[in-house]
Amino acid sequence: HPISAMSPCLKSKCLSIYLSLWQLNRTWVFQGHGALLQPQTMLLDEGHERLYVGAKNTLYSLSLDRVNTHHREIHWATTESQVEECLMKGREKPECANYIKVLQQYNQTHLLACGTGAFNPVCGLVRVGHTGLFSLDKESIESGRGRCPYDPNSPCTSTLSRGELYIGLYTDYWENDGALCRLNNQTYTRTERDDRQQLSEPKFIGSAVIPDNDDRDDDKVYFFFTEREMDAQGVNKAVFTRVGRVCANDQGGQRMLVNRWSSFLKTRLICSVAGPNGIDTHFDELEDVFVLKNKDKKNPEIFGLFSTTSAVFKGYAVCVYHMDDIRAAFNGPFAYRERPEHHWTPYEDRVPYPRPGSCASKVNGGGFSSSKEFPDEVLRFVRSHPVMYRPVRPLHRRPVLLQTEPGRRKLTQIAVDRVQAQDGHYHVLYIGTDDSLVLKVITIYNKDTDTVEEVLLEELQVFKVSQQLYVGSEVGVAQVRLHQCDLYGSECADCCLARDPYCAWDGLTCSRYYPAGVYTKSRRFRRQDVRHGNAVQLYEQWHRAEERLVYGVENNSTLLECTPRSLQAKVLWFLQRGGDKQEVQSDERVIMTSHGLLFLRVRSSDAGVYVCQTVEHGYVHTLLRITLHVLRGERVDVSPRALGPPSVPGPHSRLWYKEFLQLIGYGDAQRVEEYCERVWCSDKKRKKTKRRYVPAGGEKRGKGRGEENSHRAPRHTLDT
Ligand SMILES: *[C@@H]1O[C@H](CO)[C@@H](O)[C@H](O)[C@H]1NC(C)=O
Ligand SMILES: *[C@@H]1O[C@H](CO)[C@@H](O)[C@H](O)[C@H]1NC(C)=O
Ligand SMILES: *[C@@H]1O[C@H](CO)[C@@H](O)[C@H](O)[C@H]1NC(C)=O
Ligand SMILES: *[C@@H]1O[C@H](CO)[C@@H](O)[C@H](O)[C@H]1NC(C)=O
Ligand SMILES: *[C@@H]1O[C@H](CO)[C@@H](O)[C@H](O)[C@H]1NC(C)=O
Repeated sequence: HPISAMSPCLKSKCLSIYLSLWQLNRTWVFQGHGALLQPQTMLLDEGHERLYVGAKNTLYSLSLDRVNTHHREIHWATTESQVEECLMKGREKPECANYIKVLQQYNQTHLLACGTGAFNPVCGLVRVGHTGLFSLDKESIESGRGRCPYDPNSPCTSTLSRGELYIGLYTDYWENDGALCRLNNQTYTRTERDDRQQLSEPKFIGSAVIPDNDDRDDDKVYFFFTEREMDAQGVNKAVFTRVGRVCANDQGGQRMLVNRWSSFLKTRLICSVAGPNGIDTHFDELEDVFVLKNKDKKNPEIFGLFSTTSAVFKGYAVCVYHMDDIRAAFNGPFAYRERPEHHWTPYEDRVPYPRPGSCASKVNGGGFSSSKEFPDEVLRFVRSHPVMYRPVRPLHRRPVLLQTEPGRRKLTQIAVDRVQAQDGHYHVLYIGTDDSLVLKVITIYNKDTDTVEEVLLEELQVFKVSQQLYVGSEVGVAQVRLHQCDLYGSECADCCLARDPYCAWDGLTCSRYYPAGVYTKSRRFRRQDVRHGNAVQLYEQWHRAEERLVYGVENNSTLLECTPRSLQAKVLWFLQRGGDKQEVQSDERVIMTSHGLLFLRVRSSDAGVYVCQTVEHGYVHTLLRITLHVLRGERVDVSPRALGPPSVPGPHSRLWYKEFLQLIGYGDAQRVEEYCERVWCSDKKRKKTKRRYVPAGGEKRGKGRGEENSHRAPRHTLDT
């Protein structure tokens, strides 16, 4: 957006983010040779500290340290005759290229790369190594049929484990044959062809190999995809999100299901919110999935980004799933229906042994050394009952994040980082949008009230290891540091206000927080307060909520305006004083109106920070934070929305300073300082005593600016 068209608050925030990303060297961008890069897939190789990018006709190897330096590339285009052939099939010129869509770590020294090859898929091995070694092994190039889609726009997902490639894709030119497959150098195992019970118009989104227990023969491969199914009336096709799984060691059957999965089962993933009228709003279309690995390899957390399929209402939600719930659904009843137009019911007859969908493993009794030994009865059952009756519901039975305002940006991608903060761990969600933003969000679940609070930390204009996010877009690949604690300023209070779980005050600076034991070299005193709530919550920083300053005149009426965006929302007002937050109760003097909080006769004791929050579907949104100053008939010579410093700093300079703090998103400067001083910053180990500003009356409460600021955040450049 043009900066000039923005509200002053937004303008200063955008500027500060822009400056912070570019000037503070937080972002590097790799753009290739000027032409659109069009990345199709990316693969992180921590061992060799490289990021591999599969793009149009080219493979790149980028430095993890700085994506824009020391890159290597392999040109892998289709021949002219192949392009001609492609055009003769009636395809468009841009489609007739080699889009590298599959990139997997084959072994320590080689990558497997597959491209669409102008509608004639190809695969090959790429040598990689330290010293930037990056070369395509020409000998290894072979047909990529069944390993890469023909069409560059065709959805596909792949994962490689123990030398075997698992892939969900359309295997044919006409995109009729959607399949979940496994390839190794001897076998090709897949779902049945033309079996609409197994897969119905699938769109493949994600996949992961997840162990069930310590017996590797019990490892499962999970696929996340959507399907289109005719509804019970046989009128409309509806989209559903599925999680499907197979045993990694599935060898198929011996007489039947030869080279077909003998363990394929699937069930529905639900992401919905309860509506006020008892009708749930479902987010049925999976857009992206992120499997957040854990120390416990058996229990990663699954984050799904969903959208609604309604033509009228477009909304987005992020739901989190636990493996326990996914496994419970697969261990539950099978689904059964007499005919396709009937409803599913739980299958209640006898289920053969071994349980259909289980793996040939010691854990399952060890009676079968391979799925080829399974009785025909088991294979027949699994073939005819691939659907589980119970769906998987998300953690807390609701999304952790919701965007339901019409006309807002589309959310397309998700990556998640787990951050250990002093008061527990947080999930930091990175959500990519269609207008090339990355939203950095934490969500906090409050058990007592069963509500979820979202805190938008930053909007990064532009993925993950060593605290870097790598973002692919049409024009290039951007690398962004996940945090830049020094950006939050050089004062304890700034650090306190940022509420960024990556950062804490160490007594000297705002810097990366390392939990005990992770960074023992020079652990210093740390203050961090992300979850609580009380005061910090109100001073949430950046642009989560708009900040306003309102002056009231004693004994006169004053309206604190706040209109909710949705009519269903319930509005709550809170008054913030020091560390306390109290709900405002209306009385004969204070009235809650649909336009805001009305004081009929404002008193000086009413001064404070008022927070306007809405609660809808159990989601708390902070809409506004209004600092009310009550004047005793004094002249108000600084208009509340006035911008910029007055030309002559005079007796009002303190007021002006507060306004400046307002503009950059702070609440009442003095209260902020008080809170931070009391809760965060007062520690005898504090090494720096600074004075930031001197409140009227001259008490030495605030901390002044330091002299030695190497990384001053841009928003402090007006500090006087
Ligand atoms: C950013 O990097 C450039 C070049 O490496 C350097 O000159 C500049 O000082 C850096 N800026 C900051 C704020 O670190
Ligand atoms: C990786 O696979 C390639 C191709 O099969 C082989 O030549 C190479 O020796 C393998 N490397 C290792 C470390 O096993
Ligand atoms: C590929 O096949 C050969 C011989 O059949 C075998 O020795 C080798 O281990 C196989 N490689 C993988 C990765 O399965
Ligand atoms: C406001 O009203 C109170 C009570 O009526 C009175 O004592 C006070 O002087 C008034 N203040 C101003 C500034 O008029
Ligand atoms: C009270 O407010 C009204 C309307 O905003 C204004 O006309 C009047 O001068 C105010 N009274 C005082 C004492 O400021």
